[in-house]
Order: sequence, then C-alpha cells, then structure tokens
Amino acid sequence: MRTRVAIVGAGPAGLLLGQLLQRAGIDNVIVERQSADHVLGRIRAGILEQVTMDLLDEAGAGARMHAEGLPHHGIELLFDGGRHRVDLQRHSGGRVVMVYGQTELTRDLMQARAAAGLQTVYSARDVRIEGFDGTRPRVVYRDADGERRIDCDFIAGCDGFHGVCRASVPAGAVRTWEKVYPFGWLGLLSDTPPVCDELVYAASPRGFALCSQRSPTRSRYYLQVPLTERAERWSDAAFWDELRLRLDDAARARLVTGPSLEKSIAPLRSFVAEPLRFGRLFLAGDAAHIVPPTGAKGLNLAASDVKYLAQTLQDYAADGSEAGLDRYSARCLRRVWKAERFSWWFTGLLHRFPGEAPIEAKFRSAELDYLLGSEAGLRTIAENYVGLPLDG
Ligand code: APR
Ligand code: PHB
Repeated sequence: MRTRVAIVGAGPAGLLLGQLLQRAGIDNVIVERQSADHVLGRIRAGILEQVTMDLLDEAGAGARMHAEGLPHHGIELLFDGGRHRVDLQRHSGGRVVMVYGQTELTRDLMQARAAAGLQTVYSARDVRIEGFDGTRPRVVYRDADGERRIDCDFIAGCDGFHGVCRASVPAGAVRTWEKVYPFGWLGLLSDTPPVCDELVYAASPRGFALCSQRSPTRSRYYLQVPLTERAERWSDAAFWDELRLRLDDAARARLVTGPSLEKSIAPLRSFVAEPLRFGRLFLAGDAAHIVPPTGAKGLNLAASDVKYLAQTLQDYAADGSEAGLDRYSARCLRRVWKAERFSWWFTGLLHRFPGEAPIEAKFRSAELDYLLGSEAGLRTIAENYVGLPLDG
C-alpha cells in the first residue's frame, strides 16, 4: 500500500490530522492498534479552546459540537470556605471554552473520516516504523493475513505517550523533560445532573476536587488521591461522601449522586520530548507531551500541534518547501511549554502535596486570595485557561 502521509494512532490527534489533510487533498492512512470501540470507550476531558473548535469546523466535523456542546463563560474556584468565579469571557477579552466530551469529538471525527472514504486500519498488531531518517519511510504492521507495509512520504506519530513512534527514535536524538506528581485523580462518571452550570475547582484542606460535566444529565467528578490508592477500593458511597467533604454548602446542596458508570485513577505528569521532528517522522499530541489535567490542555495542545503539522505538510505538497518542516518543532514547542507551565502552576495552586510544610498551604491561600482580587491575576488565569493565541 502507498499513501502520502501514514498516521500512527486514531485518537483525537490522528483523526483530526487525517481530516485536515484529506480536505487539503493529501491522501493519508491511519494505523491504530486498538479497535474503534476501544478508542471510543476512553473517558477523557472535553474542554475545547476556540482553536480546537475552529479546527473541528475546518475538519468538517464540528456540527454536533455546536449543537450539543456547552459554552462555558466562567469557572468557580472554592478555597478557604469561599467561592470565587473567574469570568473567563471578561478577563480573556471575550473568549470562552466549550464543554464537549472527547468521546463525542472522537466519534464525530471517525464518522467524518468514514464519510470521506479514508482508510483506517484498526486492531493493527506489531506496528513499527522504518526509514523515517531517509526519504522512503514506511509503517509495517500485522493483520489477520500477515505482515503489511505502507510506503509513504511522511509518518505522523499520533500514537500517544505509550506509542511506538517516539520510542523508535534513536535515544540520542530526543531529549525529554518530566515531572511526576505525588498524587492521582480518582475520576467518576455518572448520569446525574451537574452541581453547577460551570466547572467547580475545589482546593480543599482534604485535597483537590473537580466537578465537571459532559451534558445537562451526565457529570464527571475527580478527587485527588494518594498514588497508593486503587479505584476498586472506592465504593460509590465512599466517593460521594469524600466529595461532599471537599465542596462548599452550595455545591453539597445541589449534588445529585447516582451509580458510577466508570471509576478510574489517572496519574498526573508533566512531560515534553524535544524535538518533535526526526527526518520524515513528526510527533503530535500526547506522543510528544503530557500535561496534568488541571488546566484541561491535553486535547487542545494535540489540536494545535495538528494544525501546525497539517499546514507544514500542505506547504510541502504545494511547492516542495521544506521551511515548514524545519520550523514545525519549534513552532509547536513554544505553545506546548506555555501550556505545560500553566498546567503545572494551576496544579500546584489547587492541590495539597504530601509531606509539605504547613506554611505551603498558607502561601497557596494567599496566592489565590491575591489572584482572585486582582485584574491582572484574573486575567492570567482566564487567558491561559481559554488558550493562548496561536504563535502568540
Ligand atoms: N500503533 C498504533 N496505534 C497506537 C500505538 C501503536 N504502537 N500505540 C498507541 N496507539 C494508539 C492508541 O491506541 C490511541 O488510540 O494511538 C492513539 C493515541 O491517542 P491518544 O492517547 O488519545 O493521544 P492524542 O491523539 O495525542 O490525544 C491527546 O487525547 O487521549 C487524550 O489525554 C489525551 O487529551 C489528550 C488528547
Ligand atoms: C473533565 O471534564 O474531564 C475535565 C474538565 C476540566 C479539567 C480536567 C478534566 O481541568
């Protein structure tokens, strides 16, 4: 088989890239190691920045997002017994975010890809990439009929943190930066109405909690838990009891509990690999970087990487210009590191760290008190949360 761009990974990055390339007339094939149902079964955050919303429209997959997504103009922060609203729209110069589950975004992109008649190989086994340091890269995998090979001009590594693409780069050619946080997030999904019209971030003395949502009838909650915790050790009742203890009276009064549809613990990590280009291989999304979920940046960083990569590949296809290829990595990393910094800072502001000196909690309270009482402080939270401008 031959194609212009072979994309490894059918998550949000791979699917979005595939659509943007197809609409630019650039043929592509996606190779995904899981089944489509497995990919759709993942429960992930769904806070879309304007950049991501625009890209979904550009990909021809934004209709349901506009119809069913929930525009959010602010977030609520709970700390020291008080509730403080950050007016995102006012303090970011008019921008907002859209709440739209990543599962639904993935479903929309899958449907758009199928409608375009593009090939996606699901349940591919033993995927490997070769020749990307030359001019004849290829992706090799196994299916029921044996080994298959896709010859291509470029490989897009959209295969996430545990993927094969970054792992295939010679160790000396990639440098990584990593910070692993000493706690995780225990998440619960329930078909219950949200406690608030907007997201509620709680910096409780017992630990962080987040009240998020997927729709007016489906809620997503998180509790900061020690790394030693296991989701199966938490009954629904224990989860709801602990959540109540971390919320304020208003949220407790509105909390509607119900059976969990899903419960799992996610670790928190900051991670960046540099550079993002190795010859004819380009990394995008979680294959290149990971953020702690506090700032809801993971999906949006994948989207901006993909926007840059699609432009880069279109420029090359148009006139053979390699300038974009050369600039891709630095262009992505400027935005990546600013989002990494915000996610790290926002995580530090709202979580308690095991073994920290008692004074640390006083510093956090004072910082929150200052930020939420200052136009500059409110602006720094708002303009980072809604997403910094591209190439800003
Ligand atoms: N071969 C083929 N596919 C692979 C391989 C492999 N060796 N390894 C991983 N994959 C697939 C995974 O099964 C997954 O479907 O690559 C895809 C990577 O998708 P994500 O991990 O979702 O990463 P990305 O598309 O960059 O999206 C980033 O989505 O998952 C969230 O938290 C993530 O919000 C972030 C955003
Ligand atoms: C989610 O809805 O899963 C979510 C929302 C906001 C965050 C993190 C996760 O900051």
